[in-house]
Amino acid sequence: MCGIVGYLGKREAFPILIAGLKRLEYRGYDSAGVALLSSGKDLRVYKEKGKVANLEQLVAGRDLSGTIGIAHTRWATHGEPSEVNAHPHLSQSGRLALVHNGIIENYSALRESLREKGFTFRSSTDTEVLVQLIEYIQQKYSTDLPSAVRISLNKIVGAYAIAVIDREEPDMIVAARKSSPLVVGIGEDNKEFFIASDASPIADYTSQMVYLDDGEIVTIRRGKPIQVINLNNETIDPKIEQVEMDFGKMQKGDFPHFMLKEIFDQPDCIEDCMRGRLLTSKKRIVLSALQLHHKELVEAKRITIISCGTSWHAGLIGKQLLESYCRIPVNVEYASEFRYSNPVIGKGDVVIAISQSGETADTLAAIQLAKEKGAYIFGIVNAVGSSIARAASMGTYIHVGPEIGVASTKAFTGQVTVLTLLSLAIGRERGTIDPETYQQIVTELANIPDKIRKVLKSNEHIEEISKMFTYAKNFIYLGRGYNYPVALEGALKLKEISYIHAEGYPAAEMKHGPIALIDADMPVVCIATDKTLYPKTVSNIQEIKARHGHIIAIVPEGDVTIHKIADDVIEVPETLTCLTPLLSTIPLQLLAYHIAVRKDLNVDQPRNLAKSVTVE
Ligand code: M6R
Repeated sequence: MCGIVGYLGKREAFPILIAGLKRLEYRGYDSAGVALLSSGKDLRVYKEKGKVANLEQLVAGRDLSGTIGIAHTRWATHGEPSEVNAHPHLSQSGRLALVHNGIIENYSALRESLREKGFTFRSSTDTEVLVQLIEYIQQKYSTDLPSAVRISLNKIVGAYAIAVIDREEPDMIVAARKSSPLVVGIGEDNKEFFIASDASPIADYTSQMVYLDDGEIVTIRRGKPIQVINLNNETIDPKIEQVEMDFGKMQKGDFPHFMLKEIFDQPDCIEDCMRGRLLTSKKRIVLSALQLHHKELVEAKRITIISCGTSWHAGLIGKQLLESYCRIPVNVEYASEFRYSNPVIGKGDVVIAISQSGETADTLAAIQLAKEKGAYIFGIVNAVGSSIARAASMGTYIHVGPEIGVASTKAFTGQVTVLTLLSLAIGRERGTIDPETYQQIVTELANIPDKIRKVLKSNEHIEEISKMFTYAKNFIYLGRGYNYPVALEGALKLKEISYIHAEGYPAAEMKHGPIALIDADMPVVCIATDKTLYPKTVSNIQEIKARHGHIIAIVPEGDVTIHKIADDVIEVPETLTCLTPLLSTIPLQLLAYHIAVRKDLNVDQPRNLAKSVTVE
C-alpha cells in the first residue's frame, strides 16, 4: 500500500505534495513525510508518525521552499510505524532521498552486502536498502541517477513504485514501477511534472497522464519531455492519456464520515452503474463488453472468479447468478490462494477479476498467472485506468465513483449489480434463462435504487439498535443462498471498523459446530429476506432463540413470524430472491457503521488497514 507523490516545476512543491498526500491517505496512514529540494539549498526531509495532519503540524515554521519534492504516506510492512521508519529515506551521504510503495523481498541479503561495504542503516525498513544501493552504484560506476536507479532495480526482487531525488542533480526526479502503480502527470509545455500512486493528486493540475507499465523507469527533467526506459535500458514511447476526474464525489458534504456518505450514495451509484446498460423501455440489458467479446463470454465452458475481501464476497454472489442463469460452472477463488495453487486453467477458461481499487497485488498477480496460462480475463473494476482494468482482456467498470472509506460499501453493491447484468445478458444469449424470468428481473432491477432509498430510511432505527452492542465482544451473521455471502460481508464490515470479532456462516451450518457459541451474550444477525428459504431460516432462528442468543433479524416488509421471535427487526422491501443481496446488505453496513461511531473509532480509516492493498 502506501501513497507516493512528486512534483517538479515552477511552483512551490510543498502545498502540492501535502494536498496530494491527503488524497492518497486512503492507501495508508501510519506515517507521512516529505523531501524538498531547490538549487543551491540542502535536501530537507520532514517526517512524522501518524497522519498527514501530524506532518503539517510538525513543519509549521520550517523552511518549506523548493520547486522539487517527493512525499509519502505509509502503511507499514517492514518496521513499525515510527518517525525513523517513515519515508522519504536518505542515502548514507544524505545526497539521495527516496519514497517507495511495495516490498523489497531480498532486502535482507542486500542489506548485509551493503553493510560489508561500510553502509549503516537507521531504519528497519526494506526501503532504506534501495536508496543505499542506488548511492553505492552511483559511487562505484560514477554514473548518473537514472542509470544508478536502473542498475539497482535489476538487483531487486519484489514490488515497487519509487521516486528518487538527488541533491547533486536538483532538476530531476527519477521514478519507476513494478507491480505497484505509478502515474506521471505532464503540465503545459513540459514546464511542470507530477507523479503519484493514482491520478487523484494530479488531476487538479493536468489531464495529460502517463500510466507507467511494469519495469519502466521515467526520468523527469525540468523543461524537457519525459524519458521512459525499461530495465534493459531500451527506450519506450510514453503513451499520454487524457484523464478527467470528478472530485465532487470525493467530498463528504454534510455527512460526518465518507463511509456514511458512501452508504447513502448507493441508490444513485446503482443508477449510474446501470445507466446505458439496463434499457428499461426495451426491457433489455446491453453490455458493450459482451457485444465486443461475445464468443469468449457466451461460449465459456467454465468461469473462475478471483478477488479478495469484499470483492470476493461479491464474487460468491456472482457464482450463484452465473450458475443459475447461464448454467456455466463457476469457481470463486481468493486471488492470494489462486496465485500459488498451480491452478488447472488455460485456453478457453474465462477468469473474472473483481476489484474496487484495481490495484490489489494478489488479484493482479492472479490475473498475470491466468493470462500466462492462456485464460481470457474479464475485469469488474471501479478505479478507472487502474492496473487491473488495464491488465484485463476486457471488462466493465462499476461506475460508482471514488470510494474513500476504507470499508467498502458502494463498490460491493456496484459489483453485485454488474454481476447481475452480466449474468442476465450472457444467460439471454445462451438461451439458459427463460424470457419471462429475464423480463421480471430486468423490470425489478430498475426498482432497486428506490428500494434502497427506502431501506436507508431505517437509519435511525438501526442507530438505536446499535447502542446496545458497543461492548459486544463477538457477533455471528447468518444467511442462506444469495444471502450467505451477505452474512460474510456484514461480519467483515463489523470487524474492520468496530474491531469486534464477527463471523459469517450459512445459517444451516450453525448446528454443525458454531451453535456451541450461542448464549445470551451472543448477538446473532439473521438475514431472512430470501422468500424461498424463509421457512428454513425461521427454523434456524428458532434454534438460536432456544439458546437465548440475541437476534437481530433482517426481514421482508410486512413480516409477522420473525417479529414474534427476534429481539430486533429491520425490514427491507420485498424483491426477487436473486436481488435480495442489494437490499439486505444496506442495514448491515449501517449497523457496523453506527457501532463503530458509538465506540468513537475512526470509521473511515480503521487501524492497520489501507484502502488499496498493493502488497501481497
Ligand atoms: O480493491 P479491491 O476490491 O481489490 O480490494 C479487496 C479488499 O482489500 C477489500 O475489499 C477489503 O476487504 C475492504 N477493506 C473491505 O471493506
